[in-house]
Amino acid sequence: VATDVRQEIGEALDAGLTLPASWYGSDPAIHRLELERIFARTWQYVARTEQLTEPGSFVATRAGHVPVVVVRDLEGDLRGYVNVCRHRGHLVARGSGKRASLQCPYHAWTYGLDGCLRAAPRSEREPGFDFDAYSLLPLSVESWGPFVFANPDHEAAPLAEALGGIPAHLAEGGIDVDRLRFRERLEWSHATNWKVGIENYLECYHCPVAHPSFSKLIDVDPDEYLLRAEGLVASQFGPLRDGEPGFDYPKGEVKRAQYHLLWPNLTINVDPGPPNLSFDTSIPVSPHEVEGVSDYFFGEDVTDAEAREIMAFGSQVAAEDMALVESVQKGLDSGMVPYGRLLTTSEHLIQHFQRLVYESLS
Ligand code: FES
Ligand SMILES: [Fe+2]
Repeated sequence: VATDVRQEIGEALDAGLTLPASWYGSDPAIHRLELERIFARTWQYVARTEQLTEPGSFVATRAGHVPVVVVRDLEGDLRGYVNVCRHRGHLVARGSGKRASLQCPYHAWTYGLDGCLRAAPRSEREPGFDFDAYSLLPLSVESWGPFVFANPDHEAAPLAEALGGIPAHLAEGGIDVDRLRFRERLEWSHATNWKVGIENYLECYHCPVAHPSFSKLIDVDPDEYLLRAEGLVASQFGPLRDGEPGFDYPKGEVKRAQYHLLWPNLTINVDPGPPNLSFDTSIPVSPHEVEGVSDYFFGEDVTDAEAREIMAFGSQVAAEDMALVESVQKGLDSGMVPYGRLLTTSEHLIQHFQRLVYESLS
């Protein structure tokens, strides 16, 4: 992005204008820069600690667009690697399981759980073949409660720094992450640029218009529904309304919804009711396509019926949002409206997000 254009965009964001419409998929250079400068340098939710309890257990997954494998090594430490063979690029590990080593299915190069190349068939015929030069590339890996995160930047700042106030907000809201149990995974996709979905998540200005059932359960009045942005986190807090919502919804100790974005693409959601939490990860698989994964966790005592009601509530909102974001993408793709105008009292979390995008790419 040229310097003069950059300065102009920075000033436009400060004035409440949005990023240019061309940044939402029609300019492929922006997408490449985002992968390199945002997704290759941020913490991504990649697995659950329960999948990695035993020494030798591994999970092949992805951190944004980067294929990764996370292992519990024989010393009991979590480690992660770019899951790309140093021979010719086949993905090394698939699925999950327990192994003493990781073998690439293409030509059987074999790596230790420390990432070092241990065996490469016929390499003894190759004069000067240097095993040490072809270790799997290391990543940063850390866990928080039942969640495992990876950062393709192997010198990343600690996860706790990125999480900022999220753990404290959850604890204060009645969620003990160590007592949550994984219940279900949903996979989904959107025909949009990844930023359209995140920006939709970051405001509840559309809630009274587009989410009638949500707005019956949660008080979306701008004086009650709070928005807070700090560092790499943007948070929303919505109190439970008094009275019955008019549909089945379980009662419980969580009286206030909280919705957090962990920059750039993880949303952490707690709805009112018995202890619940979901993680939604949006992965940009192309400039116009997002693949998403939603993992649902509940307190041990939450019944299946209660869990289903909470998930149905979330699915209803998600279906409403899907129609909104796909329509926004069509409008942006037309190229006819070069930028939008935010209401900075109701949409400042979007402004915060767009500044992070802009600063990352500058
Ligand atoms: S690409 Fe992995 S062994 Fe050849
Ligand atoms: Fe929405």
